[in-house]
Amino acid sequence: MAPFDLIIFGGTGDLALRKLLPALFHRYVDGQIVAGTRILGLARDTLGDEAYRERVREALQKTLADDPRSPAALEPFLEMLGYRRIDLSADTGWAELAGELSDESRVRVFYLAVGPDLFGSVGARLQAHGLTGANTRVVVEKPIGHDRASAVAINDALGKVFDESQIYRIDHYLGKETVQNLIALRFGNALFEPLWKAEHIDHVQITVAETVGLERRASYYDKSGALRDMVQNHILQLLCLVAMEPPSSLAADAIRDEKLKVLRSLSPIENGATSQLTVRGQYRAGAVEGRPVPGYLEELGRNDSRTETFVALKAEVRNWRWAGVPFYLRTGKRLTDRMSEIVVTFRQVPHSIFGELAEPIYPNQLVIRLQPDEGVKLWLMNKVPGPGGLRLRRVPMDLSFAETFGGRQPEAYERLLMDVVRGNPMLFMRRDEVEAAWAWIDPIRAAWEASADAPKAYTAGSWGPSAAVALIERDGRTWHEDA
Ligand code: BG6
Repeated sequence: MAPFDLIIFGGTGDLALRKLLPALFHRYVDGQIVAGTRILGLARDTLGDEAYRERVREALQKTLADDPRSPAALEPFLEMLGYRRIDLSADTGWAELAGELSDESRVRVFYLAVGPDLFGSVGARLQAHGLTGANTRVVVEKPIGHDRASAVAINDALGKVFDESQIYRIDHYLGKETVQNLIALRFGNALFEPLWKAEHIDHVQITVAETVGLERRASYYDKSGALRDMVQNHILQLLCLVAMEPPSSLAADAIRDEKLKVLRSLSPIENGATSQLTVRGQYRAGAVEGRPVPGYLEELGRNDSRTETFVALKAEVRNWRWAGVPFYLRTGKRLTDRMSEIVVTFRQVPHSIFGELAEPIYPNQLVIRLQPDEGVKLWLMNKVPGPGGLRLRRVPMDLSFAETFGGRQPEAYERLLMDVVRGNPMLFMRRDEVEAAWAWIDPIRAAWEASADAPKAYTAGSWGPSAAVALIERDGRTWHEDA
């Protein structure tokens, strides 16, 4: 790959130091980033190249152990880095930047690791300084707005400056190995697709459970809450990949068209239905992984917040393939384990020939584990070996990525950043997808805000409020436990 320029707005921020630069470093170690590439961190602080490299050097320490080749690569990688001071709301620094980036033949990526309220003005300044030519790509992070109207406004502002094909809306869940593997699993095997429909599938569960709390993001998170932070983007994207029709190819728009159809087929959850179909929670003090932790309000330092740190909901995709198949979604902070998975539960056998069994016949389940231990399990009923008659037991066919493929599993940002440089938007969201996702989320939010009820309390270290258990048990089903 030819040398390129990557410019990170928010170059001293958490995302840049914790995710983007470590991801670029690993791609460098693997030989995908060649000499002559420039990576510039931009922020308001007065900092020289050396001081910036020092910050990045420190940030990269944690990842050095991940790959034995990386210590030797550290210094040459840092050589590619520079720092430029810029004021996003004034003209300071822009002309100099434009002077440095004047070679139009190089791929130029602007990564806007800054708040969405700045996307429009940064875009306008890039345009004013002639930095929007054909080889330019811009990457924007979530949140793209806080509702549909604000997302439309952001998309309009970006659309005034860039062509849609230049805009990469990142959802890092789409860069996770197991998420991409969903496409391989569904469309690279003839086995699943004939069964992938209401006739054979009882229901689908998607869980994204975290053990972390607010971290240092109180001002963002308290305005956002779990519905906007996780469901609107990551979880709905997972749902789309499970539910979409087979695209005709891997072309970005072929996939995005199919995802959009799913989003538009989601049954709206409005006023009357929210209390039946949604549960929101907020954690109280408890213990996570054996460590006592404070409650959300204590972490926040205020006691009047109704922000949800947990959501469970029952969604439905209204089309021929999925009619009557519930999609149970849940996500939360300060839960028992860090664990994300998609569970597809197939229907029961129509008739049992086994008579009285010690163990019931469980329906088959396909479990796609995103984290921590990435892999795929297919739970089947098997005969227990031995002469003592036909005894059945539920056991998994187990494909662990680590065991099967070995080596380190790349982080989501590694794949996604290189896709931007290569100009492949397949794993990024088109504007209509983002807006359709908000259109489904907005009425849920509105109903919650109009309701007198507060989020249900749950103890940190639990699996969320008991109402989330009731949500699924009302339908005679249970949340999947890996047992
Ligand atoms: C981010 C959310 O998008 O995803 C965070 O803003 C969340 O609140 C994070 O913690 C989870 O990502 P991952 O890759 O650790 O599952």
